[in-house]
Amino acid sequence: MPILGFGTASYPLGETNSDTKLAFLQAIKHGYRHFDTASIYGTEQPLGEAIVEAISVGLIKSRDELFITSKLWCGDAHGDLVVPALRRSLENLKLDYLDLYLIHGPVSFKKGVEGYLRDEKDHVAMDFGAVWAAMEDCQRLGLTKSIGVSNFSCKKVADILATAKIPPAVNQVEMNPLWQQKKLREFCNANGILLSAFSPLGGKGTSWGTDRVLECEVLKEIAKAKGKTLAQVCLRWAYEQGVSIIVKSFNNERMKQNLEIFDWSLSEDEVNKINEIPQRRGYQGENIISKYGPFKTPEELWDGEI
Ligand code: A2P
Repeated sequence: MPILGFGTASYPLGETNSDTKLAFLQAIKHGYRHFDTASIYGTEQPLGEAIVEAISVGLIKSRDELFITSKLWCGDAHGDLVVPALRRSLENLKLDYLDLYLIHGPVSFKKGVEGYLRDEKDHVAMDFGAVWAAMEDCQRLGLTKSIGVSNFSCKKVADILATAKIPPAVNQVEMNPLWQQKKLREFCNANGILLSAFSPLGGKGTSWGTDRVLECEVLKEIAKAKGKTLAQVCLRWAYEQGVSIIVKSFNNERMKQNLEIFDWSLSEDEVNKINEIPQRRGYQGENIISKYGPFKTPEELWDGEI
């Protein structure tokens, strides 16, 4: 897996699929080879079109040069719906296989519920055993090279591991200097699971994102002293923690800038300063918490990791 991935979770409002496709093509031109999408993002289709065009204009020789992740949405998180959902994602992406398929979050919606819009009463407990067994089928069928989870706490990863024949390869969660995920990282490392960091810059532009990270004074000072941008300090810090990083930018200059983190390092003193930043989760899980569902509070959803 190329360690730095390009996030596709949100794109500037009002942009069309063709603008989005152009942004992905631009990213491939800059050298991004790892793309992170999900059925709920609405970006599988433009990403698929960008890949076809990238091959046809010779930016890459074949699809194998890319690492593509997509995710199973909550409405499809039922044992019998997983393989068909992945087949639909592949169709959108015009691909024969994914590199990584993730369960998007630890909640299911009632069968047949599509998209974000739903009645709060539509939340149901996920049958982890059945859904994970179907994820394993996806890998066995060759529809994806590996499988994993997203937004899972230590306890919920342990629940998956309890019945898994194929352990999750990845847990993709929010991680940045203001929410460093030390406990989850230790747990994942101990179990051979790679943590993948989404919202490494704080996720501005998403429904939960803020500019708390981009406005953090400690990070501003380090960036200034270092002659780097604050975003580069965040990305370099995450890289030095040994995680994979999913960063988003639809701006040409920032796309390029975010790749320039591999030929310098943070000093021990700078890392110590980052370690002291007060910790607060950004993404609480508002869209998967429900008073009628299995997780009624952030405390329950994250098993106390808040
Ligand atoms: P833009 O697309 O205009 O560059 P995250 O990766 O944590 O989800 O953060 C994405 C947000 O951070 C987007 O709003 C994106 O805006 C912005 N962003 C991405 N790269 C940079 C950068 N190098 N400097 C400042 N903001 C950035």
